[in-house]
Amino acid sequence: MPPYVQRGTIPKKRHIAHKTEPGFLGEGLYYEEVISSEGFSRAYSIAYHMRPPTRVLRIEDAGRSQLEAASDIPLRHVHVKTKEMARAGDPMRGRVPMFFNADCLIARCRPTIQQAEFYRNAQQDEMIFVHSGTGRLESMYGELPFGPMDYLIVPKCTTYRLVFDDVAQADLLVVEARGTLGFPPRYINPDGQFRLGAPFCERDLRGPNLVEPCAEEGEYPVLIKDGKRWTRYVLASHPWDVVGWDGMIYPFAFNADDFEPITGKVHQPPPIHQTFQADGFVVCTFAPRMLDTHPDAIKVPYAHSNIESDEVLYYVRGQFGSRRGVELGSLTLHPHGIPHGPHPGTIVASRNATYTDELAVMIDTFAPLQVAADAVSMDDPNYPFSWL
Ligand SMILES: [Fe+2]
Repeated sequence: MPPYVQRGTIPKKRHIAHKTEPGFLGEGLYYEEVISSEGFSRAYSIAYHMRPPTRVLRIEDAGRSQLEAASDIPLRHVHVKTKEMARAGDPMRGRVPMFFNADCLIARCRPTIQQAEFYRNAQQDEMIFVHSGTGRLESMYGELPFGPMDYLIVPKCTTYRLVFDDVAQADLLVVEARGTLGFPPRYINPDGQFRLGAPFCERDLRGPNLVEPCAEEGEYPVLIKDGKRWTRYVLASHPWDVVGWDGMIYPFAFNADDFEPITGKVHQPPPIHQTFQADGFVVCTFAPRMLDTHPDAIKVPYAHSNIESDEVLYYVRGQFGSRRGVELGSLTLHPHGIPHGPHPGTIVASRNATYTDELAVMIDTFAPLQVAADAVSMDDPNYPFSWL
């Protein structure tokens, strides 16, 4: 969880009256909403609305998602080239599934239009990696400006809207997580603070800034994703009507270039790159870094068999020392059950290198991933033979 923060006005104690200015609309009170996790047992935030958040005018069926697995892919390495993926849809409905299992869905999104309706994921936390594009994430918690290389972490049940300065520049990697997207517990000391030596800390996390609340009434559709089922809730008042909130549940940003890589005398294993985790998977940032210093160090990873892990890499920026043939915007899946490793020639080619400028996002899942049918048309079927 990100650290506790407080924005706007809140009363002195939880669950007591937060009184409005005399003559303000309503009953002279702001309306408390508790946003809690694991029932009422884990992290929570408390927000104060101008009007109750429960005022719904209409509820409409908004369709179903299709999530189909590719039927004819054997167990093999997969290379999906998404750099030129056709732009379509908005930042929510335009997501194209790449890989999935019961714990997560990994998608790419290259939207053509701005988000028209507010959006809320009822079941999953979301991680949106901004490969390119700038804009702001709006929610009742305030505005969160974002730009390239930002991870945006959005807790489940956050009504939000992504507003791009130029939607034609937007290029996103999206992970929807069944569990809670948080930090590796080993980074946090028993007092709840990032440990010295963790590869980032509280100063690198950016939370939303509360803006002037909107008192408008009207019709405000919220598109709710609930698994495969989509529902449109038409609210009677604007959802950004919060005068203050505090707590530990809110959307936040972390920029991959703020990751502080840990390097060693010889090759360090992938967990040193870990950034986030949720039930069933971890997210790692392979950031630009100094390479290993032993005079005989092999500076690309050793071949390895993934036992109980499927490994997805998304190639973001720079040159990839251990790979040939991947492009920026490529996704590779190196699944459980078979080994993978550096491409031929890369061990020798990297012998005199002291630094790598690569930036990649890795998602390692502990249950096997399925390749989505939508990814197949962008798959390079010769990739499994690229080690010859
Ligand atoms: Fe690997």
